[in-house]
Amino acid sequence: MLTGKRILLVIGGGIAAFRALELIRRLRERGAAVTPVLTKGAEQFVTPLSVSALAAHKVHRDLFDLTDEAEMGHIELSRSADLVLVCPATASLMARMAQGHADDLATTLLLATDTPVMIAPAMNVRMWEHAATQRNLARLRADDVRVVGPDEGAMACGEFGPGRLAEVPDIVAAVEGFFADGPLRGRHVLVTSGPTHEPIDPVRYIANRSSGAQGTAIAAALRDLGARVSFVTGPADVPPPEGVEVIRVQTAREMLAAVEAALPADAAVMAAAVADWRVENASGSKMKKDGSGNAPALAFAENPDILATVCRGDRRPALVVGFAAETGDAAGDVVAHATAKRLRKGCDWIVANDVSPATGIMGGPENAVTVISEAGAEPWPRLSKSETARRLAARIAEALA
Ligand code: C5P
Repeated sequence: MLTGKRILLVIGGGIAAFRALELIRRLRERGAAVTPVLTKGAEQFVTPLSVSALAAHKVHRDLFDLTDEAEMGHIELSRSADLVLVCPATASLMARMAQGHADDLATTLLLATDTPVMIAPAMNVRMWEHAATQRNLARLRADDVRVVGPDEGAMACGEFGPGRLAEVPDIVAAVEGFFADGPLRGRHVLVTSGPTHEPIDPVRYIANRSSGAQGTAIAAALRDLGARVSFVTGPADVPPPEGVEVIRVQTAREMLAAVEAALPADAAVMAAAVADWRVENASGSKMKKDGSGNAPALAFAENPDILATVCRGDRRPALVVGFAAETGDAAGDVVAHATAKRLRKGCDWIVANDVSPATGIMGGPENAVTVISEAGAEPWPRLSKSETARRLAARIAEALA
């Protein structure tokens, strides 16, 4: 519920601007007061009349509106909100925000505010993937701007890929997550999840059986305690949780880059099943059978160890939690291996589990973990993955308190 929360909604000029209308409705249904600001570009896509009707509030449009300056200056306008939400955040708006421009009402408000800012980007896939946009995104994240979406999918321009505005319920969930009151409110936690895919050629890859279920449950549990969660995920079987920042990757090296871009964080939970090796001689085109009966020889190179890299880095979170999926031959093997792994990688805790097929854990709904820290090994009972996640999130909240 968002009762009494004041949201300054900056609507950018993109085709997705019409979805801001639905967003206003949903935010108000939950009790938020929405003050809308339209950029000049946005007025090409939605009319000030429809926006003000849905918001039941005057639309602010012009930097040099003398009535407004008399009634409420733009500085005050930006400061009287609990959250500034930019939706859709176009490539141009993101660039101007990253640069600190103040050349219209929207950017002036964004520069003048000391209120937390959340953006929901939406643009063509090529614009999103362009190095300049990714640079601006990294800059904005470093400036503590929260990011929701974009989604991947079919776009208005006929192309397919990341750049589509996040679904309205996801944006609402992110806003609710921002206001969620819990022991992790104001904390930023990074979670890695899912397998990685290492290409052999453009159509084939090496993967593993990780479903991403445990990492997803952990991200949701941390969100529920009020944390801002950056969720870096490989191609998982389960959808990412709502209300967290999702960063999708394929390979281990992409995951490392995404993790480094998401730091700093107060804590990191590395639940991804990262491929240890990548194919060094991956082919740029589909490999073909040549009829000789000879199979291609794949050469492997070791992938970077993301967990160890984060633990040794100069932006190491105060608490780093690793996972150790082992297949033990004898009782005690799993804990012994995981204890050694904790020291080798330099993390604070390691969550060990036996993923031998007989346990049904990998891809299954339950988990039986042993949490290993400096204090020793603590076996937890066999629990659902969500309950395991809730307990772990509560422990993290205690440790950061
Ligand atoms: O060495 P192993 O793969 O068993 O280590 C598991 C832990 O290390 C997990 O937390 C996993 O997310 C992390 N890891 C990593 N990068 C790798 C390999 C593992 O972050 N290349």
